[in-house]
Amino acid sequence: MMFHKFAYPLAMAGFLAVIISQAGAYDPLDPTGNITIKWDIISWTADGYVAVVTMTNFQMYRHIMNPGWTLGWVWPKKEVIWSMVGAQATEQGDCSKFKGNVPHCCKRNPTVVDLLPGVPYNQQIANCCKGGLVSSWGQDSSAAVSSFQLSVGLAGTSNKTVKLPLNFTLLGPGLGYTCSQAKKVPSTVFITPDGRRKTQAWMTWNVTCTYSQILASRYPSCCVSMSSFYNSTITPCPACSCGCKNNKTCISNDAEIRSVVGKNISTRASGNTGSGIKCTNHMCPIRVHWHVKLNYKEYWRVKMTVTNFNYRMNYTQWTLVAQHPNLDNITQVFSFDYKPLVPYESTNDTGMFYGLKFFNDVLKEAGADGNVQTELILKKDMNTFTFNQGWAFPRKIYFNGDECRMPAPDEYPYLPSSAISNVISSSTVASILILVFANLLVTI
Ligand SMILES: *[C@@H]1O[C@H](CO)[C@@H](O)[C@H](O)[C@H]1NC(C)=O
Ligand SMILES: *[C@@H]1O[C@H](CO)[C@@H](O)[C@H](O)[C@H]1NC(C)=O
Ligand SMILES: *[C@@H]1O[C@H](CO)[C@@H](O)[C@H](O)[C@H]1NC(C)=O
Ligand SMILES: *[C@@H]1O[C@H](CO)[C@@H](O)[C@H](O)[C@H]1NC(C)=O
Ligand SMILES: *[C@@H]1O[C@H](CO)[C@@H](O)[C@H](O)[C@H]1NC(C)=O
Ligand SMILES: *[C@@H]1O[C@H](CO)[C@@H](O)[C@H](O)[C@H]1NC(C)=O
Ligand SMILES: *[C@@H]1O[C@H](CO)[C@@H](O)[C@H](O)[C@H]1NC(C)=O
Ligand SMILES: *[C@@H]1O[C@H](CO)[C@@H](O)[C@H](O)[C@H]1NC(C)=O
Ligand SMILES: *[C@@H]1O[C@H](CO)[C@@H](O)[C@H](O)[C@H]1NC(C)=O
Ligand SMILES: *[C@@H]1O[C@H](CO)[C@@H](O)[C@H](O)[C@H]1NC(C)=O
Repeated sequence: MMFHKFAYPLAMAGFLAVIISQAGAYDPLDPTGNITIKWDIISWTADGYVAVVTMTNFQMYRHIMNPGWTLGWVWPKKEVIWSMVGAQATEQGDCSKFKGNVPHCCKRNPTVVDLLPGVPYNQQIANCCKGGLVSSWGQDSSAAVSSFQLSVGLAGTSNKTVKLPLNFTLLGPGLGYTCSQAKKVPSTVFITPDGRRKTQAWMTWNVTCTYSQILASRYPSCCVSMSSFYNSTITPCPACSCGCKNNKTCISNDAEIRSVVGKNISTRASGNTGSGIKCTNHMCPIRVHWHVKLNYKEYWRVKMTVTNFNYRMNYTQWTLVAQHPNLDNITQVFSFDYKPLVPYESTNDTGMFYGLKFFNDVLKEAGADGNVQTELILKKDMNTFTFNQGWAFPRKIYFNGDECRMPAPDEYPYLPSSAISNVISSSTVASILILVFANLLVTI
């Protein structure tokens, strides 16, 4: 039972670790998570080459949502893009020196976006045209890829004269990604669909982009609130979790709601900078509520509710990550999909939740339908299990890949001191006592 004594310092250490971990582009729950951009030169042309660019999202739980990715780079020489399939440059730039054939883009630093679904087939290639949406690897690895093809002119026409593009930038769709320099890697080998022949790219280079929450936004974009059957206190999200209330920019009445709902969803800002957020003390677009609901003899039960406070945003393909030491013995998850994340072999305390297709994979805009919920049943490990010292609450929660602000450890709902001895000495008696107690108190 060493945990009781150290729970508080541990929680504090965790809190500090959060602050420190956000400073680097390193996510301890997904240490190898990255988006890799691969350029395969598949043929030389009279004045350059044709390349297929493939973006693969290897991040377990961070997807690219509406309005999709934007990729940029700087040409090292005077390259132009003659044509593109499956994506387009947002600006053509100054092509005035070209007569006859006019390039698709003459900018030295082109900015490229995906095409929308439903473009004509002759503008499509495999894995393109999804409006820039890319699933997370953990949720759907088959949809975690986005591709386009481009024909580059005024470039080299051999692997000795081609220069790699510089200074890649990726918006996904907001800030947060930092990309490495392009690096030549062994040429990709393609296998024909019948599996009987291999071909290979003339030349391949990779760029790796990693995410850092602190670069994405000054404030978190979600917060956690808590309650339990054993204490009627509801611990709210900390005030100003995602910025402080300013009733000039947040939504507080029905007339304002009507004026924003369903309007103008194409804001590129990620999360809380838009002005479609309901006025609350925490000002987060997303709140995750963890309710310790029931105590059985060998199991315990948690209800988790994710609430959307953003009137301008439907969160499609949302993901939620939770870290709690008892998740290695999770027995049942209602209404959500669940997948354990095991970044380190020694610990199995983290898992991702996401919605069931066509049922609750869209977290709807704020309002009566703007929430999704699940219940979890966890099997107790009697050596570590306790309701004491906030042990039953999560260590970390992420929504859509961003870490949520937690209440301070000393504000977690406490087990009333009279109940502690019961729970610890005889779990059976305590279960009955607590079940009775639970019925007297509000459930959320
Ligand atoms: C990117 O992610 C892949 C898959 O997890 C991993 O194999 C690779 O090492 C990562 N690359 C970097 C530079 O971290
Ligand atoms: C170019 O390709 C040839 C043949 O594939 C290879 O031997 C050579 O090392 C490559 N040169 C460079 C600079 O990549
Ligand atoms: C690429 O980025 C580096 C560092 O930010 C900068 O010094 C350099 O000038 C940039 N190169 C180009 C071609 O923009
Ligand atoms: C380049 O990226 C691809 C993913 O698109 C990956 O499979 C490959 O391992 C990467 N190569 C290197 C050397 O990182
Ligand atoms: C903003 O809130 C304050 C206090 O809650 C209130 O006094 C004030 O009238 C509100 N202003 C507007 C424009 O709603
Ligand atoms: C959210 O989705 C619903 C139904 O698909 C749609 O009616 C609504 O306009 C969408 N809201 C926003 C803010 O995009
Ligand atoms: C959406 O909002 C942005 C910024 O608030 C504005 O520039 C843009 O014109 C708006 N678009 C539409 C379709 O209302
Ligand atoms: C982690 O825990 C889950 C839930 O009990 C289990 O299904 C999974 O097999 C475990 N994975 C490892 C690597 O221990
Ligand atoms: C909990 O899970 C761990 C690792 O998966 C396993 O070793 C242990 O026996 C489980 N405990 C119970 C009570 O099932
Ligand atoms: C319930 O939890 C709150 C917050 O931690 C604490 O202040 C309060 O004393 C607890 N209630 C009881 C009856 O122990």
